Amino acid sequence: MKRNVLAELQEFLLESPGCFHAVAAIEKRLDAAGFTRLSEKERWSLKPGKNYYVIRGGASIISFKLPKGKPESFHIVASHSDSPSFKLKPDPALWSDGLLRLNVEGYGGMIRESWFDRPLSIAGRVLVEEGTALHQKLVYFDRDLLMIPSLAIHLSRDAKKTGEPVKIQSELLPILGATDAGDWTKLLEEAAGAKAEKILGMDLFLTCRMAPTVWGAQNEFLSAPRLDDLACAYGSLAGFLDASPKGHIAMHCVFDNEEVGSRSMQGAESTFLAMTAQRVCRALGMDEEDFCAAAARSFLLSADNAHAFHPNYAGKYDPVNRPKMNAGVVLKHHAAQKYTTDGVSEAVFKKLCRACGVPVQEYVNHSDVAGGSTLGNISNTQFSVRSVDIGLPQLAMHSAYETMGVADEGYLAQLAEAFYAGALPQADI
Ligand code: CO
Repeated sequence: MKRNVLAELQEFLLESPGCFHAVAAIEKRLDAAGFTRLSEKERWSLKPGKNYYVIRGGASIISFKLPKGKPESFHIVASHSDSPSFKLKPDPALWSDGLLRLNVEGYGGMIRESWFDRPLSIAGRVLVEEGTALHQKLVYFDRDLLMIPSLAIHLSRDAKKTGEPVKIQSELLPILGATDAGDWTKLLEEAAGAKAEKILGMDLFLTCRMAPTVWGAQNEFLSAPRLDDLACAYGSLAGFLDASPKGHIAMHCVFDNEEVGSRSMQGAESTFLAMTAQRVCRALGMDEEDFCAAAARSFLLSADNAHAFHPNYAGKYDPVNRPKMNAGVVLKHHAAQKYTTDGVSEAVFKKLCRACGVPVQEYVNHSDVAGGSTLGNISNTQFSVRSVDIGLPQLAMHSAYETMGVADEGYLAQLAEAFYAGALPQADI
């Protein structure tokens, strides 16, 4: 299918102010493509040649396409739905000196300064009591609702000198209004469509309201909130939707909680992927032996954005391996295996990219810079398959507003389609 992946990504980002909405936006696209939703709470009966998805915890989703015959392996791409933000604390309204602020705590490792002086809002979910049932209701205030104004330079000269990091509890509480605390409850009731006493639980996060924009002398850059990792979630989804797997199961995973270490019921360190893979095989009449052999033939692309070279900070990068924006997908290496790539998976991946015409760039940390981590090696502790860590080159990772190249999303979609549709190069070890 011919797609304008860049325009589609921007649309997806606007529909995804947070992890719950991102999963809902993926679900909407799967429903439109005729996928069937499964419940983890029911027995699965699956038909070869059909497509399914399952959601865990509201913010992790695994979708898969079954081949017509018995599957030989899994072709998996995994990315994450969450991004660094601030989570509202229980009873968050703080009224003082004529201003209403909301009490928040940090979620993940954000560039704190980047949250100052930007239009913000709130997105997430509430749990509403209806009779004997509890319903999850997505909440998004689709307007500029909050701001975290910075301290005037004239009042902050001392702080700038000491280089103190910005404090969340005292400096990053957003301002909601100039009226009293009752207004927060009213706003929440309106957004949830329920009385406050019926709202029994909530996972609400601040979200940056700045719209995606394409800029640069040749319109070569895209800036937007949450590119890490929704750019990988969307690019891999586009390729997944376009592919028809033959002889293997095409599996698309988007996990929550990567930004806080993946250790949750639905994160990459959970049983979600392993259990889903096992249940799929069982439902297709495969036995334990078939399952183990299929896992051994499988391959995972752990897709999480990568650091593009920033010329203002050249000393922070490896002297040779410096990915450029708009120059293709990045293959990440790490000797201590924070990135799962090894010589074998590297060779398989490069052969795959060569076959589908997608350029590959390589990233490895400056040897004295610790670098980040991602979900591939964590997922491998639960469901161990040969894998590489890849990503799209971007700047300002974990800023409230990040930057990538306009061409790279298309490379990822092209790669994902080839990976999901075709045979995988097999190494003889
Ligand atoms: Co990421």
